[in-house]
Amino acid sequence: MGKTFVFVNQKGGVGKTTSALNIGAYIAAEGKNVLLVDFDAQANLSSGVGAKPPVPGIYELLSGKAAIDEVIKKTGVARLEVIPASIDLSGAAVELIEQEDRYLFLKKALAPAKNRYDFILIDCPPSLGVLTLNGMAAADSVLIPMQCEYFALEGLSLLLKTVQRIQRGLNKSLGIGGIFFTMYDPRTRLAQDVVKQVSTYFKSAVFSTIIPRNIRLSEAPSHGQPIVLYDPNCAGARAYQSLAREIIRRSAAQSARPAAGAPAASKTAAKGGPGGGA
Ligand SMILES: Nc1ncnc2c1ncn2[C@@H]1O[C@H](COP(=O)(O)OP(=O)(O)OP(=O)(O)O)[C@@H](O)[C@H]1O
Ligand SMILES: [Mg+2]
Repeated sequence: MGKTFVFVNQKGGVGKTTSALNIGAYIAAEGKNVLLVDFDAQANLSSGVGAKPPVPGIYELLSGKAAIDEVIKKTGVARLEVIPASIDLSGAAVELIEQEDRYLFLKKALAPAKNRYDFILIDCPPSLGVLTLNGMAAADSVLIPMQCEYFALEGLSLLLKTVQRIQRGLNKSLGIGGIFFTMYDPRTRLAQDVVKQVSTYFKSAVFSTIIPRNIRLSEAPSHGQPIVLYDPNCAGARAYQSLAREIIRRSAAQSARPAAGAPAASKTAAKGGPGGGA
């Protein structure tokens, strides 16, 4: 059974999409089958892997207008596939609000794909609205990209409270896969302080790989390529490769002790901090 990760942070521009697509590409490069799910109407992930409209995409899947095999597209990276999004997805948010099981649409839609991939990675919009809650209901684990800024800390507690709410209701087995830092600039004192503070508090939930600010990472999407294709030797590429390997390792370690995994993650998160284990 594949493992589903959701990239969440209600703050905009922290690196959710860049991380989902590059981690996905590097996990695929390690020999795993990966499905990326673009769950943001901005469709940045779709264009970042060169999946241009016209669709069918995730909106058509959710609304029952297309079957899962019609919406899954190949990318330029072997074993990396994508369900693209389009601006139509913004309409889905409105339509879903009116449905009784509005938080479970994505979970149901992705169910047939769960056995076909080792990893499914869902990229969410910058909000804790109905789409992101669908993402968390569909996932086994939450991955939180964080920029090293003061306001990031304030957002983190709201985000963790939301995860706890989901764990109590919609998805009891949801775990915190971990927190990682993005766009790190070692020259700023604040960035160093944020890393130190978050790492002290959240301990093993923080991944040891830190993603540096790297111009090549921001250029790659305009070529429709993950960094592994665009510039595999740059510092950003090496960092995402290392983070992808960490995620695979944590995931394997957790699968080796299935009975203990999920409840432990829930219990620790309920105390206000995430537990380890992807
Ligand atoms: N490590 C990095 N170094 C330099 N630029 C980066 C890095 N990571 C992301 N960027 C750039 O920062 C911007 C925001 O990144 P991204 O789109 O991944 O964030 P996001 O959290 O998905 O945003 P949104 O909340 O709007 O969905 C993009 O222009 C991206 O190319
Ligand atoms: Mg994004």
